[in-house]
Amino acid sequence: MFLEIRGVSKKFDNTAWEAVSDIDLTIKEGEFICLVGPSGCGKSTLLNMVAGLEMPTSGEIYLDGQKITAPGADRVMMFQDAALFPWLTVLENVRFGLRIMKKDPAWIEETAMKYLDMVKLSKFAHYRVHELSGGMKQRVSMARALAIDSKILLMDEPFSALDKQTINKLRDEVAQIWERTRKTVIMVTHSVEEAVFFGDRVVTMSAHPGRIRDIIPIELKRPRHIDEIDFITYRKAILEEVRSEVDRSEEEELGKA
Ligand SMILES: Nc1ncnc2c1ncn2[C@@H]1O[C@H](COP(=O)(O)OP(=O)(O)OP(=O)(O)O)[C@@H](O)[C@H]1O
Ligand SMILES: [Mg+2]
Repeated sequence: MFLEIRGVSKKFDNTAWEAVSDIDLTIKEGEFICLVGPSGCGKSTLLNMVAGLEMPTSGEIYLDGQKITAPGADRVMMFQDAALFPWLTVLENVRFGLRIMKKDPAWIEETAMKYLDMVKLSKFAHYRVHELSGGMKQRVSMARALAIDSKILLMDEPFSALDKQTINKLRDEVAQIWERTRKTVIMVTHSVEEAVFFGDRVVTMSAHPGRIRDIIPIELKRPRHIDEIDFITYRKAILEEVRSEVDRSEEEELGKA
């Protein structure tokens, strides 16, 4: 398997429960996995461990047979805020990410422009970050992440800081880009709709401790449309699962208070 999460748990010192508990998940190359679950169920923690930003308390994670022990260029993370350098231009931001690849400047320039073109921002290459809308910033972040050509792309709620209209447009674009690149992706999202829109499989989690509750393969052809009957059926079923988890975790929190 391409990515193997084996018996992974993570306990932070200041909490009584495991933030992530005994997670087993294997992901195939080229798969798009979406993680959903109530706030605090450990989605970001799990993603951070795949990124190598956090270490499991027990268990192991392997990417392409290599145990993950630190961050690396084979795993790229995209956050909720685009995390760009505000003093650089759009092009410079993408080029900056490519420096670690130690290629010649012409290749870097060409590659950066190729990915800016893919996210439809080549006309804005020389704009500075503060001149961009939130959606455009996320597209720069996407171009930077894709240009590095990592083995896996990790996205932590990449659209949640954007307005609904921008989200819908960006989702379609990201889906098209993904069809072209077929990169392995793990995306954390609060939106079940988003999870069904993107996921080959949707992983639902429960909180306190953070465990996998269910793994649902989404057998819908692409491109997907949120108003199709089969789409709505998946969305409803998963939403019910997630809702019951939110209720349970809220009850538990109240019980602890
Ligand atoms: N660095 C940390 N130190 C201590 N506790 C942490 C740390 N990071 C996360 N936690 C705790 O671990 C649990 C899981 O947090 P995590 O951020 O992974 O949840 P999440 O599912 O991403 O939530 P959200 O949907 O709100 O982003 C929470 O109880 C959180 O308070
Ligand atoms: Mg989170």
